[in-house]
Amino acid sequence: MRTSLTAITILVLGSFSLVGGLASADEPTNIVFLSWKASQPQVWKGLIRKFHRENPDVRVKLQVGPHSSTEYHAIVTQRFKNKDASVDVFFMDVIWPPEFANPGRVLDLTPSFTRQQQAEFLPGPIAANTYRDRIYGVPCYLAAGLFYYRNDLLRKYDLEPPRTWSKMLSQGKAILKGENDPGLYIYSGQFKQYEGLVCNMMEFIWSNGGAVIDSQTGKPTLAEPPAVRAVSFVRNKIIGKAAPRGVINYEEPESLDLFIQGKAIFHRNWPYAWSIANNPRKSRIAGKVGVGSLPAFSGHTPASALGGWQFGINRWSRHHQEAWRFIQFMTSHQSQKTLALGAGLAPTRMSVYQDPEVQEGMPHLKAFLPAFERARPRPPSPVYPMISQELQRFFSRAIVERKSDVPALAKAASKRIQRFLKLGAMIQK
Ligand code: GLC
Repeated sequence: MRTSLTAITILVLGSFSLVGGLASADEPTNIVFLSWKASQPQVWKGLIRKFHRENPDVRVKLQVGPHSSTEYHAIVTQRFKNKDASVDVFFMDVIWPPEFANPGRVLDLTPSFTRQQQAEFLPGPIAANTYRDRIYGVPCYLAAGLFYYRNDLLRKYDLEPPRTWSKMLSQGKAILKGENDPGLYIYSGQFKQYEGLVCNMMEFIWSNGGAVIDSQTGKPTLAEPPAVRAVSFVRNKIIGKAAPRGVINYEEPESLDLFIQGKAIFHRNWPYAWSIANNPRKSRIAGKVGVGSLPAFSGHTPASALGGWQFGINRWSRHHQEAWRFIQFMTSHQSQKTLALGAGLAPTRMSVYQDPEVQEGMPHLKAFLPAFERARPRPPSPVYPMISQELQRFFSRAIVERKSDVPALAKAASKRIQRFLKLGAMIQK
């Protein structure tokens, strides 16, 4: 995918002074924070303003890239070529730390981010930021795939939230029949060819007892029956059936849009969707939404992909100290609480889950803690982007083409993934 630097919007928050073009003695240090496009930007800007008030000697310039993790990744890698020092702090998707740690693009934070400090965070995101026993990022917020549903409709038809995918379909069909609304669909999720597709598809595969890579043997298992059946189910029953065919172009925002317009009964998304779906200024279904674990295939247990974002420091930045101060501020109990209450983001610091105001404002959050702890990582690897590109291509072809040969495509993709895994193992040696 082609992405250009011009796609970045530069926002300068607050002002800084240059006296006659020369630096004055008390001129603040400017640091650049490169981020993806947040769903609730005002909350982030508010936090940065607060940081400025508390740290008048530092000014943060926020540079915002695209919302899609895949497109934003292209921008980050572009900016990091040639020891570029123009970015100080950057936001990393949970799958990136090994990739950026390996060629030493991201600063090793082990000396500052002590084990004692790390113990205040949930173990999953800490593990994701750790590569060969060193830590490279500080987890800002955590995500895990959740299942949203129309409580009002389930009640109207005397139904319980479905535990299996086939139950979801049969309940959906009954509701569609009763509602007789041609604009209503059963399901909405993310099926565009990008990182989100990998998360959605892995959840289907895991919830059928399958995997993309076997965690014991380290071998691809994409072509084995549980994975092939799960992918075929999505092609046969979800795309253009339970969900509109348009979902093959949907990332998180578009799929959520369908749900909050009242056009889908069930919806897969990350925790942030809860506050938007229940905001009467944004959603037609505010107050009518339930949330729980994703369904599984009959006889199997549900599974959620681990998502979330971390702060890293560009190793070539000339402002490591200031960058670290900014990260500490952004990942403090108070800031995580603001992000939870203001933007519906799930904290990575355990203490925030015990905070009475968070418990009152987001009663569902604490109940999800066990699910967040169980959320499954995508394969950690310094060549993860190559593995992901291959998976994205495979999943997309398999579900978009109505007559795709899923077993053959899965076999071919597995072979290529095996090669990438070998390459990853060599790099790590
Ligand atoms: C969310 C998750 C991230 C994931 C992405 C996929 O941003 O936090 O981990 O890769 O969605 O779309």
